[in-house]
Amino acid sequence: MSRTILVTSALPYANGSIHLGHLVEYIQTDIWVRFQKMQGNTCFYICADDTHGTPVMLRAETEGITPEQLIDRVWHEHKSAFEGFHVEFDHYGSTNSDETRGFAEEIYRRLKAASLIEVRSVEQFYDPVKKMFLPDRFIKGECPRCHAKDQYGDNCEVCGSTYSPTELINPYSSVSGAQPEQRSSEHYFFKLSDARCHDFLNSWTQGRLDKQKVAPLQAEAANKMREWFAAGLSDWDISRDAPYFGFEIPDAPGKYFYVWLDAPVGYMGSFRRLCADKGINFNEYWRADSNVELYHFIGKDILYFHALFWPAMLEFSDFRTPTQIFAHGFLTVNGEKMSKSRGTFITADSYLRQGLNPEYLRYYYAAKLNGTMEDIDLNLEDFAVKVNSDLIGKFINLASRAAGFIAKRFGGKLAKKGIRSECAELTMFMLKTQNLEDIGFLWEGESIHTQNIAKLYEQRNYAHALRQIMYLADIVNKYVDCYKPWELAKEEENHDRLHEVCTVILNAFKRLTVYLKPVLPKLAQDVEIFFNIQQLVWSDADEMLPDHHAINPYSHLMARIEPEMIKAMIAANQQSLKPLPESHSPARHAEAQLHDSVQQKAAGGEVSSVISIEDFSKVDLRVAKIVKAEHVEGAEKLLKLTLDIGEERSRTVFAGIKSVYDPEKLQGRMTVMVANLAPRKMKFGLSEGMVLAASGEAPGLFILSPDDGAQPGMRIK
Ligand code: MSP
Ligand code: ZN
Repeated sequence: MSRTILVTSALPYANGSIHLGHLVEYIQTDIWVRFQKMQGNTCFYICADDTHGTPVMLRAETEGITPEQLIDRVWHEHKSAFEGFHVEFDHYGSTNSDETRGFAEEIYRRLKAASLIEVRSVEQFYDPVKKMFLPDRFIKGECPRCHAKDQYGDNCEVCGSTYSPTELINPYSSVSGAQPEQRSSEHYFFKLSDARCHDFLNSWTQGRLDKQKVAPLQAEAANKMREWFAAGLSDWDISRDAPYFGFEIPDAPGKYFYVWLDAPVGYMGSFRRLCADKGINFNEYWRADSNVELYHFIGKDILYFHALFWPAMLEFSDFRTPTQIFAHGFLTVNGEKMSKSRGTFITADSYLRQGLNPEYLRYYYAAKLNGTMEDIDLNLEDFAVKVNSDLIGKFINLASRAAGFIAKRFGGKLAKKGIRSECAELTMFMLKTQNLEDIGFLWEGESIHTQNIAKLYEQRNYAHALRQIMYLADIVNKYVDCYKPWELAKEEENHDRLHEVCTVILNAFKRLTVYLKPVLPKLAQDVEIFFNIQQLVWSDADEMLPDHHAINPYSHLMARIEPEMIKAMIAANQQSLKPLPESHSPARHAEAQLHDSVQQKAAGGEVSSVISIEDFSKVDLRVAKIVKAEHVEGAEKLLKLTLDIGEERSRTVFAGIKSVYDPEKLQGRMTVMVANLAPRKMKFGLSEGMVLAASGEAPGLFILSPDDGAQPGMRIK
């Protein structure tokens, strides 16, 4: 029986680019959705940009545009990144929509009517210069435990302790640099501690409610929930004070829904838009007693929101709750966290710009994904080896080895389809196998493998599915090596045999294409054109091409990965200093140390702790030519330098050297800069690096110069 399914991926933040980490999720979901569609199920895939919150507001301000302009631009960027990787949404919306606002308000009103909303006064840090309350991530200061400087408001990266921002010593706002004040303000809370919420979630997360046919969470996730329950649920603060980019709370002027309140509501809002476009009945999918299956694919970092807050919001506002939540792990690259300095913080865009085929990555991720919350590693060497040996070596080559003969010898037409009973025994003998099931798929008819592979896709164990598919590809390759079409082609008397063998190979190739189509949709499309057939669906796996079917001339379907392309991609990511941070660390760029870094003095004479050569090589030091040096209006200490470091685009750096250098004298001079320092937002603009200068106890500040002959862009090692 055909199923009706609604699927979502988490909504990416609108303040950053899509990177290969994100794609673990979107590719994983897309494969599952394509598989469901191939099965003939009614399945919609919904996503949207997550547009609200302080980071978007501040970033727009830095860029001198409105938040609406920013989110519109990013929406187009995200959309084209997803298209580039063949991630095909049925609708890609935005949380900043009338539909999302409508549902957010409706849910809020119903929660309020159920007495689950409470207003309480909260003490929080306030930035008197920016005139805004500061999220924890935008407050920095000295760690109260180990006294490390410049630590975030919620945890110390040096000693790892967590604390509340009010415990920081000498706190400062990373937005303006000002010392924050504590102020109190009214906040709106969703009363998760209410017995109704507690009881509901306690049952729901463990799949114990009557309406639940399956456990909603993976075993690991359900365990996590039990831990959280043991710790007790606290009420959830769902409001933020103006200025905030988001939806104002009904009847609460100056109060906005916290971004995480309306983010999941974006699933509904985005789907509502699709319903309007396609005439789908929204209520059938979302009313409390809906029979439609609803699945959320998410990363493990946002489990809390999806497994607790979201189901509770839905339950107590009389909407349906999710059927299941599929959480996945995080991407590492070469065994480590993605890193900008190592060039492994790879954006979707930079991958595509190298001309790397997106289906390489789809295949590689699929080969690693097993439906659990384990992290997955993109090992770049293994990536090239695996794609080349599996996809090109085992799969694509099958077509190229048989297609030429069909074109040259048989007028582009296949033979009669092979019948299992006539050939099976001989082939079993030739391939030295006893197992008819293993080679049965070479001929027409149902194969047990078709069902097994479908089951593995359904369970999101793509890794196992692909191992199974490659095992079958190995068998076809054995068949090729056994019957040696190139040998058969030498003797006229083997004419018919050659025709039959090539037909078997191409039919097996077609079957493998069906199995791989959820992962490799573009390639499958090219194969459809080559075979001159309609879009392949799952049930086509067990069908053979008709007798004497005419196919098109073969043109090469996929090239090998050249390791050079990967090297170039890493280099490109190392160079491109993104002026803004990844979404999980909104404050990282806005480090507003009040003095310019040029003037930061190492404590005189004190030897710093020893570092390794690897540590040192993380600093990208470059020879830079000062092409322009200017005064900055309103700045007492700064000069604005325009630096040529051998890249297309020059760099702007604000250096605190005005008291010692006349800008005119600097123009044309060579110096040394740190090229991979996180860009820093300053009052006067963005500073994209740091120029090196020496200073000591005595007055004076001395810019470094390389020896004659050094060229802009040369690395200092
Ligand atoms: N905006 C929220 C989600 C709101 S859903 C109602 C968010 N956005 S995000 O851009 O940070 O992440 C989007 C998804 O990508 C999340 O599911 C997240 O877990 C996933 N990933 C982001 N970085 C990732 C890796 N490095 N590895 C794997 N998945 C990662 O969270
Ligand atoms: Zn510390």
